[in-house]
Amino acid sequence: MGTNNRGGLLRKPNETMRLIITTVFGVVFGFLIGFSFPSSSLTKFNFPTGLLSSVDLSFIEDKDSGIATQALLNHAWTTRNMNKSRSMQNHNSTKIYIPTNPRGAETLPPGIIASESDYYLRRLWGKPSEDLTVKQKYLVTFTVGYDQKSNIEAAVKKFSENFTILLFHYDGRTSEWDEFEWSRRAIHVSARRQTKWWYAKRFLHPDIVAPYDYIFIWDEDLGVEHFNAEKYIELIRKHGLEISQPGLDPNRGLTWQMTKRRGNSEVHTETEERPGWCSDPHLPPCAAFVEIMAPVFSRDAWRCVWHMIQNDLVHGWGLDFALRKCVEPAHEKIGVVDSQWIVHQVVPSLGNQGQSDNGKAPWEGVRERCRKEWAIFQGRMENAEKAYFAEMGLPQPNISKAH
Ligand SMILES: *[C@@H]1O[C@H](CO)[C@@H](O)[C@H](O)[C@H]1NC(C)=O
Ligand SMILES: *[C@@H]1O[C@H](CO)[C@@H](O)[C@H](O)[C@H]1NC(C)=O
Ligand SMILES: *[C@@H]1O[C@H](CO)[C@@H](O)[C@H](O)[C@H]1NC(C)=O
Ligand SMILES: *[C@@H]1O[C@H](CO)[C@@H](O)[C@H](O)[C@H]1NC(C)=O
Repeated sequence: MGTNNRGGLLRKPNETMRLIITTVFGVVFGFLIGFSFPSSSLTKFNFPTGLLSSVDLSFIEDKDSGIATQALLNHAWTTRNMNKSRSMQNHNSTKIYIPTNPRGAETLPPGIIASESDYYLRRLWGKPSEDLTVKQKYLVTFTVGYDQKSNIEAAVKKFSENFTILLFHYDGRTSEWDEFEWSRRAIHVSARRQTKWWYAKRFLHPDIVAPYDYIFIWDEDLGVEHFNAEKYIELIRKHGLEISQPGLDPNRGLTWQMTKRRGNSEVHTETEERPGWCSDPHLPPCAAFVEIMAPVFSRDAWRCVWHMIQNDLVHGWGLDFALRKCVEPAHEKIGVVDSQWIVHQVVPSLGNQGQSDNGKAPWEGVRERCRKEWAIFQGRMENAEKAYFAEMGLPQPNISKAH
């Protein structure tokens, strides 16, 4: 357009006058628009925008005015933005399409997208920005039946106000818990006769639990007398454990060597099992391994583990041996905390919510399904890995099966 860019500051007096006049004109003009369409609703508002761009053009034609420079800059800015969005979309310039948005939300301007959520409770009144007095950094979930209330009451007390408490109720009883003060600030999810991993898959999507540094996904039958959650977190941070559990009292119940509590250390990441159990000292059950009764995941580890949980395999058997696929190096970042430890009380609570079948006790049917699921899960994992290496044209690695 042949206009030299000129500094808008040094203007001849008559240009200044012109600036004032134009400004006055702009204000009056804007007023008139508002005045002429006093009832125009928000939805009709693209009409004035059209008018304004023709006003821009008329200013550009006035080559000597300082306004023209300004208008040109404005125009260039708009054009550049249009070029930018055009190159991003290959699409209609009046429509938004951002392929890098979350799937399904491509037509939204990125600034409005809230792709993550949380379990923070809010008020119905006041300013949203003042709703939260504490933004909890940790999440603890228990899968509970009301019969275990005293155990859960004891456990919850070990978690400070820095924890969001989320209870999954498998027996349909939720309001009874309100006898406990903390129950009113807890989140309650009720679905009858479902397992911990069923709830975890449905209600702990990584994008929902994104604000939490650590996520505890615990059973209801854990004795927590020797456990403090804040101290536990201090230790897993210090030792860089992405997946962990508190050590188990070695005198109670059958358990793996790996998850037995040691009296003389803060944490441990490997152990020796019975001869022949570990083909590789860095692999489960000698390392890279915790059980599924009381796991604690970092945000990143959980994002991976969540994807590995199968919707139909509700008992989670076999998951413990596969956790190592989610962290690297697994034999360093998966471990057991010895100095904050728990007692596994082995109350077969949810197990008893099975169904009698052919004269077998309810828990027998549940146990049988657990074993079947373990085999199915292992099979799926092996096939998926084989398929991947085949598709990539890579040699199949020796799959080191942990029995
Ligand atoms: C916009 O793109 C056109 C051609 O695609 C180019 O000539 C013009 O210089 C671009 N404008 C800006 C401001 O980048
Ligand atoms: C732009 O949008 C209009 C109206 O929605 C449509 O008719 C036209 O085909 C679109 N053009 C392109 C290139 O998508
Ligand atoms: C909660 O977290 C804050 C910030 O990390 C910490 O200062 C405070 O001591 C924690 N509360 C308890 C009870 O540990
Ligand atoms: C795979 O197993 C074969 C035989 O069992 C062995 O010779 C080879 O070294 C193994 N390869 C790797 C990468 O471990």
